[in-house]
Amino acid sequence: MAIKEIVEHPSPILLQKCKEVVKFDEKLAQLLDDMYETMKEVDGVGLAAPQVGESVQVAIVEVDEEQEVIELINPVVTAIGGSEIEIEGCLSFPGVYGEVERPFYVKVEAQERDGSLYELEAEGYEARAILHEIDHLNGVLFDSKIIRIVDLDELEALEEEEIEMSREGEEA
Ligand code: CO
Repeated sequence: MAIKEIVEHPSPILLQKCKEVVKFDEKLAQLLDDMYETMKEVDGVGLAAPQVGESVQVAIVEVDEEQEVIELINPVVTAIGGSEIEIEGCLSFPGVYGEVERPFYVKVEAQERDGSLYELEAEGYEARAILHEIDHLNGVLFDSKIIRIVDLDELEALEEEEIEMSREGEEA
C-alpha cells in the first residue's frame, strides 16, 4: 500500500468525467487499498480516484469507522429522496467549506472490487458523502454547489456549539 498525493483544485483531472472500470484486477485492488490508506492519512470520510490522479470511476466512503469501507466502482444513482442543507468540505479544496443542498436519501447501484453488482441505500451524512464522491467521478466539484460559504471562524463556532449541545444531551 502507498499513500498518494491529493490532487487539489484547480487541476484539469478534477473536471473530467472518469472512465468506466472494465478490468477488476490486482491493479484495481491496489488503487482501492492505496486510496483507503490515503484517506485515513488525511482524515477524510471519502475519496474519489481523480483526487489521487486516476480518472476512473472508483470512490470510497467511510463515514462510520465501525463499519466496513464502502467501495463504489462504476456507481449509478438509482433513486433519491428528500433534501438537506449541510456544511461540506473537500480534500481537494483545503480550507474551503460551504453549505450544499443534497438529497437526504440515496440508492446506488455499484460494483465491488471483484466486479459483482450490489445495491446500497444511505441517508443523511453518509448519503451526502456518497453523492459528493459520485459527483467527483462526473467531474463535478462541490464548490459549484455551494449556496453559502462558511468561513473558518464560523465553522469553529458551530463545532463548539455542537460539542456544547452533545454535552447537554448527555446530561439530560
Ligand atoms: Co471532494
